[in-house]
Amino acid sequence: MTNLIADIDIISAEEAQACDFKITADENTGKSRKLYIESYGCAMNFADSEIVAAIMKEGGFDTTSDFYQADVIFLNTCSIREKAEQTVRKRLTDFQRAKRSKPGMTIGVLGCMAERLKEKLLEEEKIVDIVVGPDAYRDLPNLLSVAEDGQKAVNTFLSREETYADISPVRLNSNGVTAFVSIMRGCDNMCSFCVVPFTRGRERSRDPYSIVNEAKDLFSRGFKEVTLLGQNVDSYKWSPEENNKARLNKKEDESTTVINFANLLEMVALVDPNLRVRFSTSHPKDITDEVLHTIKKYDNICKYIHLPAQSGNSRVLEMMNRTYDREWYLERVSKIREILGEECGISSDMITGFCSETEEEHQDTLSLMDIVKFDFSYMFYYSERPGTLAAKKYPDDISLEIKKRRLSDVIAKQSSTSLMRNKLDLGKEQIILVEGASKKSANDFKGRNSANKVVIVPAGNYSKGDYLKVKIIDCTPATLFGEVIEINPKN
Ligand code: SAH
Ligand code: SF4
Ligand code: F3S
Repeated sequence: MTNLIADIDIISAEEAQACDFKITADENTGKSRKLYIESYGCAMNFADSEIVAAIMKEGGFDTTSDFYQADVIFLNTCSIREKAEQTVRKRLTDFQRAKRSKPGMTIGVLGCMAERLKEKLLEEEKIVDIVVGPDAYRDLPNLLSVAEDGQKAVNTFLSREETYADISPVRLNSNGVTAFVSIMRGCDNMCSFCVVPFTRGRERSRDPYSIVNEAKDLFSRGFKEVTLLGQNVDSYKWSPEENNKARLNKKEDESTTVINFANLLEMVALVDPNLRVRFSTSHPKDITDEVLHTIKKYDNICKYIHLPAQSGNSRVLEMMNRTYDREWYLERVSKIREILGEECGISSDMITGFCSETEEEHQDTLSLMDIVKFDFSYMFYYSERPGTLAAKKYPDDISLEIKKRRLSDVIAKQSSTSLMRNKLDLGKEQIILVEGASKKSANDFKGRNSANKVVIVPAGNYSKGDYLKVKIIDCTPATLFGEVIEINPKN
């Protein structure tokens, strides 16, 4: 995997998934106009595109997977690293050709890059007609009509309240089995390297009753797994007073006590024992023992925690403004192991070559990886982002060559650790949820175990959405292979 470093800045055991972008599938419900959306970045951005599709459907649009057929093209963008923005700019040149062949076409840039660059994007990329930030999607129909009148349209207002709680997302590219459910928006953490607080605004939690209703609706439509999404799910906090508006579907006599993330997890787990619950991302400073005990209490809450460490060195963590140190991180991992055992999956995000990081400090990251033994990691080299605390305070003084070499060290470490962790599963019986056919072989199916590892099994008398009891018989660093023991086991 290391030979790819020169070309891309994100590499992990789940490389393909992380580098992916998503496009809309064809949907034909007889609407007169066609929308093409392409989404980059994190799961939250993909979930936002489903909200955008719902708003546009209301406005008379079906989706298309062919941008040459589209009346409107939306690019839902990411600003997390410089490469992410470069990819979007390159993609805009492809759309320029489509627009030349269909002059009435409208092109919109949505999401984090729209929020970061605002009007500047219109000057820099002449083919763009609309620029819309993540909290302004309700304004899309209005912005479209402004653009159709030949004017440029911009709305990058960031809200303290918007959660799109009442909008039922149109599931794009769905496998019909697993779905993302946003539970909060924004981030208040101000990690010094990170652009998200600037592009997504203040943290706010979504009405828990609307979350539970969305989970119930998904389950009634055959979905078997929901992933609750937020930049920092452990700081989820909701009360009618604090959120300063009436709860959707709330009856007067319902309790008005504060609902924290552990409470919310429990509420979603109780929707149905056959609905799996996942969540991402957990912040090491906020994940509580109460959350860990709730995960343990319910079989349908998956035993998997994405707990980004970013670095294994306390001085670097302090400069990153992560507000925990190496010892705190290791203590949280010990607690996870104590409460949820060795089989609980743990993954991380790592940044190499952050400002002033020394070789010894880099070694601390490798040694943390040795101690924790992450099942997989998303790994990046530091990319300075304009306007962030680090960009203002610290010189970006590690050369690209060193950043990349340190990244290759981290990848090599993760690859051997992933293989070692996967080998521990050999011979074990596990329950997987089938998500569909394997990408690589038509004779195989793909599912995930509780720890979020992909398990490939031979096709059989079952289909996607079924639970299978499997025995793990082989593995690579990224994948487990199993044989089926039982279809939809009772427990
Ligand atoms: N909210 C999550 C992370 C969201 S961004 C958390 O706190 O963990 C996803 C990942 O991108 C981060 O965890 C970090 O590892 C990486 N990242 C963010 N900003 C970056 C930057 N400027 N350069 C390189 N990687 C970055
Ligand atoms: Fe960025 Fe930190 Fe917020 Fe994650 S917790 S989104 S890394 S500021
Ligand atoms: Fe990217 Fe925005 Fe997500 S910057 S990682 S799309 S919150």
